[in-house]
Amino acid sequence: MSTHVAGFNRAVLRWYRAHGRHGLPWQRDRDPYRIWVSEIMLQQTQVVTVIPYYERFILRFPDIARLARASIDTVLDHWTGLGYYARARNLHQAAKLIQHDHGGVFPDTFEAVIALPGIGRSSAGAILSFAYHRRHPVLDGNVRRVLARYFAIQGDPGQVTTQEALWDRASEVLPKTGVRAADFNQAMMDLGATLCTRSAPGCERCPLQRDCEGLASGNPLTFPGRKPRKKIPVKNTVFLIIADANGDIWLEKRPSRGIWGGLW
Ligand code: ADE
Repeated sequence: MSTHVAGFNRAVLRWYRAHGRHGLPWQRDRDPYRIWVSEIMLQQTQVVTVIPYYERFILRFPDIARLARASIDTVLDHWTGLGYYARARNLHQAAKLIQHDHGGVFPDTFEAVIALPGIGRSSAGAILSFAYHRRHPVLDGNVRRVLARYFAIQGDPGQVTTQEALWDRASEVLPKTGVRAADFNQAMMDLGATLCTRSAPGCERCPLQRDCEGLASGNPLTFPGRKPRKKIPVKNTVFLIIADANGDIWLEKRPSRGIWGGLW
C-alpha cells in the first residue's frame, strides 16, 4: 500500500493550491470559535449555502461568550433556513459548557473537543487541524468517497469494519506535519466536493487518477459501497370492510388477533 501513499498527499496538495477553495470567510484567520461554527454549519450544508448564514451568525455572535449569553430563541432565529436545528442547540449548549468548564477558551485537545455536544470524530479533527494545526485526519462524506474510490473499499460505509478501514486509510495518507495536514484536510474535502463527486466524478482531471483503484476497476461509481436495501417484510393480514349499497364505508378494520380471531 505504501506505493499508493507515497505520492498521495503531494498530488492532493498540489491540486489544492491550484483548484481548492481559498478565501472562504472562515479561512480568514485561525480563530477556533469561527472554525467551529463553520464546521458545524458545513456538516449537512454546502459551502455556498452556508456563507451568508455564517456571516450573519458571526456578526451577531462574534465570540463564545456572546453565543453562550444569548437566548436559544435568538440563536435559532439566526439558524432559520439552515435546517437540522439540533446543530444550533448543540452549538449553544457547547458554548455554555466552554464558558463554564474551559474558562471561555475553545479547548485544544481531541478528548475535550469530541466531548462537546454536536462534535464527532471528523469535525473534531477538522477543527483541531484548521485552528491549531494538530495532526488529525477528517472523514466526512466527501473524504470518505475519495478514499473509498482510491483504495477500492467496497463495504457498507455504515458498518463499523468499513469505517475503521476508512479511518485507517485517512490516517495513513495524512501528511506528517500539522500545517500540511491542515491544508491536506481542506484539500480532501474540496476534492470530494468538487471533483470526486458522487455520480459524475471528473477522473480525467483528478490528481489521483494514476493509482486510483476505483478508476482502475472500470467502475469508480461502485465506491463507496451502498447500504444494503432493507428487505421489505411480507406480512399476511385480513381486512374487514363493510360498505352499504351507496359505497359508503361503515367499518374498515384490520382485525387484530385475539379480538377478531374468533370470527375468522
Ligand atoms: N465540509 C465540512 N467541512 C468543510 C470545509 N472545511 N470545507 C468544505 N466543506 C466542508
